[in-house]
Order: sequence, then C-alpha cells, then structure tokens
Amino acid sequence: MKKLILGNWKMQKLFSDINPYFKVFKAKTYNFSLKLGLAVPTLYAKSCLEAIETTPFMIGAQNVSEYDNGAYTGEISAKMLASIPVSFCLVGHSERRQLFHETSAVVLKKAKKLQEVGILPIFCIGETLNEKNNFKTVLKQQLEGVFELNPKNLVIAYEPVWAIGTGKTASLEDILEVHSYIKSFFKEGSYDFSQVQVLYGGSVSASNAASILKLANVDGLLIGGASLEALEFEKLICTLS
Ligand code: PGA
Repeated sequence: MKKLILGNWKMQKLFSDINPYFKVFKAKTYNFSLKLGLAVPTLYAKSCLEAIETTPFMIGAQNVSEYDNGAYTGEISAKMLASIPVSFCLVGHSERRQLFHETSAVVLKKAKKLQEVGILPIFCIGETLNEKNNFKTVLKQQLEGVFELNPKNLVIAYEPVWAIGTGKTASLEDILEVHSYIKSFFKEGSYDFSQVQVLYGGSVSASNAASILKLANVDGLLIGGASLEALEFEKLICTLS
C-alpha cells in the first residue's frame, strides 16, 4: 500500500495563496510510491482542486459536522464535502478535541458520516505530555467505537499533543512503540483492521521525515507547519524519494 503524506494548513493562508502554492508542484515528478494530500480550509477546497491540475495532490478538509443537514448555522456536512468533492477529512485532531471540546463519541460520529459518503476519515489520536506514561489507556479511549467503522476506508493519525507545533518530535523509539501498540490494538478480537494505515504527526520536518517514515508500522505522515510553504513542503517530499 502506498504511504500517505498529508499536509494540514489549519486556519492559515489566504485565498490568493492557492495558485502560487500549487505552481511550485506543477511539472515536477515525484516518487509515486507515495500518495500526497493537503487538508485545506473547506472554503478553499474547490479552488484547490482546480489549482492542482497536474500536481499529484488529493484535497481534503479539516473538519465535518456530526449532523446530516438542517438548521446548524456554520456547519458543513459530509454530503457537502462529497459534493465538492474532497477525498479525505481529518476528524478528532487534538486542536478540535481540546479547543472545541470534541468528545470521542462525536469524533466517531463524524468519521461515520464521512464513510457514508465515501470520504476517507483521517482519525486523529494522541496523548498529552501528562498522559505520556499512560498512552495506551488514552489512545484506547480515543479509539472507542472505532471497530464500528469500515476498515477499508479508514486511516489513523497518531499525533502526540506535546509534539504538535512545538518543534519537539517524538523520538524514533517512542514512535515505534506507540505505532506498534496501535497496530496490535487493531489486530485484537475478531475484527480485520490489520490493513488500516497509521500515520505519524507532530513537528515533522524535512530533516526528520525520512527517518520517521522508514520506521516499521509508520504508514505515512501528517504535517502541519512544514506544509505551509510550498518550497519547504516540496523539499520535505523530495527527502522521501
Ligand atoms: P505540526 O502539526 O507538523 O505543525 O506539528 C501537525 C498537525 O497538527 O497535524
């Protein structure tokens, strides 16, 4: 299975940044053993799809409503995302869990809505620094109900909260240990979730991406800060070839 390299613009960049950004990636050849994607502000998704032309990116969203449709001012439903169409969508990013108080039950609901319309949920999990010694329990709680999802259209992103946007990447040993745990969690019981890909995220940069991606059980990367500038993201992707 191709490894997945996803950028996450978060609530950054302006509409006028879209074309110059994708221009950098046009007419370049990449290692096509990788699948590339960018989670952009939903407002920009259609224009990003138009701007990608020959660039190899999938376009994704960063959030989705847990509701189908109706009087939910400011919300965007999975069906709306599918009508753009976006290919994937983040759910349960730690910024949403912490700042917008999204519970694991809500995250699961959102992932289900995405699967119903054929969008790939990138299901984010991760422990805080205080929870580091207890990561198994925390991740298990965040994954509660995950076996109700369709494993054929599901990706997990492990992002230790203390590593996001801090420049403090988890050590290779830590990443290896947690990813092995997540993989073994998915082999438990009678469910066949063994093919679910598990990405690592948290201060990934051009200097550490290749060594993280080489680790066993790391099936891809979720990259925030280092995906914001096209040239920097391009450089990072080239280190993976
Ligand atoms: P970061 O963000 O690469 O800036 O640490 C990762 C993320 O939040 O997805």
